[in-house]
Amino acid sequence: MEPVVVAHRGASAHLAEHTAAAYALALEQGADALECDVRLTRDGHLVCVHDRRVDRTSSGRGVVSELTLAELAELDYGGEVGVLTLRALLGMVADHRRAPRLFIETKHPVRYGRLVEERVVRLLAEHGLTRPAGQEDARAVLMSFSTLAVRRFKALAPRLPTVLLMALPWPGLRGGELPAWADAAGPGIGLLRRDPGFVARAARHGHPTYCWTVDDPADVRLCRELGVRWVATNAPAATRAALAAA
Ligand code: G3P
Ligand code: CA
Repeated sequence: MEPVVVAHRGASAHLAEHTAAAYALALEQGADALECDVRLTRDGHLVCVHDRRVDRTSSGRGVVSELTLAELAELDYGGEVGVLTLRALLGMVADHRRAPRLFIETKHPVRYGRLVEERVVRLLAEHGLTRPAGQEDARAVLMSFSTLAVRRFKALAPRLPTVLLMALPWPGLRGGELPAWADAAGPGIGLLRRDPGFVARAARHGHPTYCWTVDDPADVRLCRELGVRWVATNAPAATRAALAAA
């Protein structure tokens, strides 16, 4: 089966990451799904920002969790004024005619207890995105490098798929088997280059694989050959073209 193309931070090879324009372009380029990172602001709003600080991606400086939404809204994010909120991105996704799936990754899971995961699930419910649910049909997938965060997501929204992200083999991965709270494995592409048997071992235990970040055509081909289910890419059109040529 052909991998599903997930736009990583939007079409972020072409436009500033985590901007509405980058997500709109990703959908124009034929991405099947979108990926975003979320963080909590000082006043409790979920915003789509990758780094702990806004320095790299905006005209401002400071730690996201120490700034208010109003302060983040004044900054320029690569030509787009105002931080993208998860609420705004969910609005885009919920209304889109192709009903794209959203892969939501939480950062800093420890600082706020369960607050981040609870707010993500509540926002999904408000947008009608907790239904349908199931590995193939769900409109939202919840993921993190933090086992704590993935466990919380599964407890809060048992019917939504979860992905346990990993840059190195997760120590608890016994012969490809994940704990009950993780539906899919989320290795970086480097891990699959070193250990191509990973995907088949996970599949034997019923776990599909989500691989990030897959921009090189050789990596796209590798993912296809190995049976990776979802490939997260910064360049959706080029990845789709590499799949078509493979
Ligand atoms: O999609 C997962 C991938 O985004 C994880 O790495 O650092 O880009 O969030 P990072
Ligand atoms: Ca991410």
